[in-house]
Amino acid sequence: VTVSLGASARLRYDALEERHADVLHSLLVTPEVLAFIDEPAPPSLTELRQEYAARSNGPPRSRAPEQWHNAVIVFEEAVIGRLEATSYGHYGEVAYLLGQPWWGRGFATEAMHWWHEKLERSVPGTHWWATVHPENRRSIRLLERLGYSPAEQDPSMPLSSFSSGDRCFVRLPIA
Ligand SMILES: CC(C)(COP(=O)(O)OP(=O)(O)OC[C@H]1O[C@@H](n2cnc3c(N)ncnc32)[C@H](O)[C@@H]1OP(=O)(O)O)[C@@H](O)C(=O)NCCC(=O)NCCS
Repeated sequence: VTVSLGASARLRYDALEERHADVLHSLLVTPEVLAFIDEPAPPSLTELRQEYAARSNGPPRSRAPEQWHNAVIVFEEAVIGRLEATSYGHYGEVAYLLGQPWWGRGFATEAMHWWHEKLERSVPGTHWWATVHPENRRSIRLLERLGYSPAEQDPSMPLSSFSSGDRCFVRLPIA
């Protein structure tokens, strides 16, 4: 059963499930999407199914107060990408991936505005961080549009998405 999380002007958002690996493997495991994402090797379909199953189950109790938030983005019944956020308490980190055919239409901007509104309801007051490869200009432009500011990485707030050389951005809750 598909769990709908909400909708914005052009898009709908469903809870990420293991079955989404089938469509998202062909859409997101591509050289264009992975260009600035530091991973040892692109995941196989089996690995992606395992990853999405783990994501949808949420973190083990030992990782409390960590929370995992995951959604797929749907446009006219087609899954076009996904959103994620991990909250660690007062801070957290976000990430977003869209299939390359869907870039350049403002879908990531629309989806991330919706995501921040939803996150503000689930985990109010969180300072959201994002880490970006310095050459990922599309992602940096998106973060600037969303009200993120450049920030130094803070060792007291470890970010699992951080790779050496990444730029960090933070978005403080709007008062
Ligand atoms: C990062 C990523 C999501 C950005 O996608 P995107 O389509 O450029 O982002 P947006 O949705 O904000 O779209 C902005 C573009 O749409 C255009 N646009 C059209 N209609 C728009 C609208 N209604 N609102 C805003 N922008 C609109 C903008 O002009 C801009 O185009 P341009 O870049 O040619 O100037 C995408 O490149 C991606 O998935 N990359 C691979 C994964 C990745 O690197 N993720 C980030 C890891 S940190």
